[in-house]
Amino acid sequence: SADMLIDSFGRFHNYLRISLTERCNLRCQYCMPADGVELIPSPELLTHDEIIRLAELFVSEGVDKIRLTGGEPTIRKDIEGICLHLSNLKGLKTLAMTTNGIVLAKKLPKLKECGLNAINISLDTLVPAKFEFMTRRKGHGRVMESINAAIELGYNPVKVNCVVMRGINDDEICDFVELTREKPINVRFIEFMPFDGNVWNIKKLVPYAEMLDRVRQRFKDVKRLQDHTTDTAKNFKIDGHCGTVSFITSMTEHFCSGCNRLRLLADGNFKVCLFGPSEVSLRDPLRAGQDNLVLKEIIGAAVKRKKAAHAGMFDIAKTANRPMIHIGG
Ligand code: GTP
Ligand code: 5AD
Ligand code: SF4
Repeated sequence: SADMLIDSFGRFHNYLRISLTERCNLRCQYCMPADGVELIPSPELLTHDEIIRLAELFVSEGVDKIRLTGGEPTIRKDIEGICLHLSNLKGLKTLAMTTNGIVLAKKLPKLKECGLNAINISLDTLVPAKFEFMTRRKGHGRVMESINAAIELGYNPVKVNCVVMRGINDDEICDFVELTREKPINVRFIEFMPFDGNVWNIKKLVPYAEMLDRVRQRFKDVKRLQDHTTDTAKNFKIDGHCGTVSFITSMTEHFCSGCNRLRLLADGNFKVCLFGPSEVSLRDPLRAGQDNLVLKEIIGAAVKRKKAAHAGMFDIAKTANRPMIHIGG
């Protein structure tokens, strides 16, 4: 089917997010339930070969951007081989990763050689003690080193993802913006989203409009940049700063109409919407020896079931979904 990646609203999905593991070396409160998550038994995880086989199929149908996520993708022992094989797929333009940066500085030169050409690093605070509170682990210095290593290796822009939670890190918004003065980074403030086990609450959400107000009060010349129709972020630039500032407004102004994203989870389940609880296994038919024609039917049918938009923040907060650490964002 030539239109496997087109849904019933005409959206073409050229961006596949692949979660490589649900394990992580941090324990972020907004991502992982306090009592942990059930780990997927390793025989149930997609192998290197299965990931490549499925990715190849998606790329042959028109996917040109793959993002590796987790858990924490750098935990996967075979991460370099996976990057090398994915980056060699004919038709793939972008091989990206979203990482917490804890062990990235050391691994990035090799990953770059293996074809990783875009990097997003999560960092929610510039205060080491608060980092320890938010992530339940130490490591603030190592994340800062990874951001600098990525800049030095020529990634441009290095995207820095900051999930904003009221009363926890919302007092640091302008300090993060200040970082863009000298660094070629794109700081992205993300509205806090509900997932199973993260105790989401409307009071902890700082709406986009309020974040932007705070930035405008401190920085005078804040220009809106043109965004791409499929962008998750609304982009801005402060006059004279070398980096940029963005907002990911999933809760107060969702961007579903331009959605081009599909997800393959570490256990081989295929998820067409971050907030759509319905999943279908691609691993099982693959292991049963089904050919690409059958896999394409399954994928195409799931894509056709995709909804126009998520159900709104109060409904998604009530609907069972996986914890974020299983989905990878
Ligand atoms: P770029 O490809 O660099 O634009 O990154 P991205 O925003 O697609 O991915 P990233 O992993 O950096 O995610 C940043 C934030 O956007 C996270 O909070 C994600 O959960 C959120 N996000 C990513 N894709 C989607 C999506 O399809 N829908 C919604 N609502 N949020 C998303
Ligand atoms: N709300 C918003 N963003 C989140 N992320 C993880 N959990 C949440 C949440 N509850 C972000 C991470 C990472 C990206 C993949 O998703 O910080 O940058
Ligand atoms: Fe796409 Fe679902 Fe995210 Fe909306 S919530 S942008 S439809 S993945």
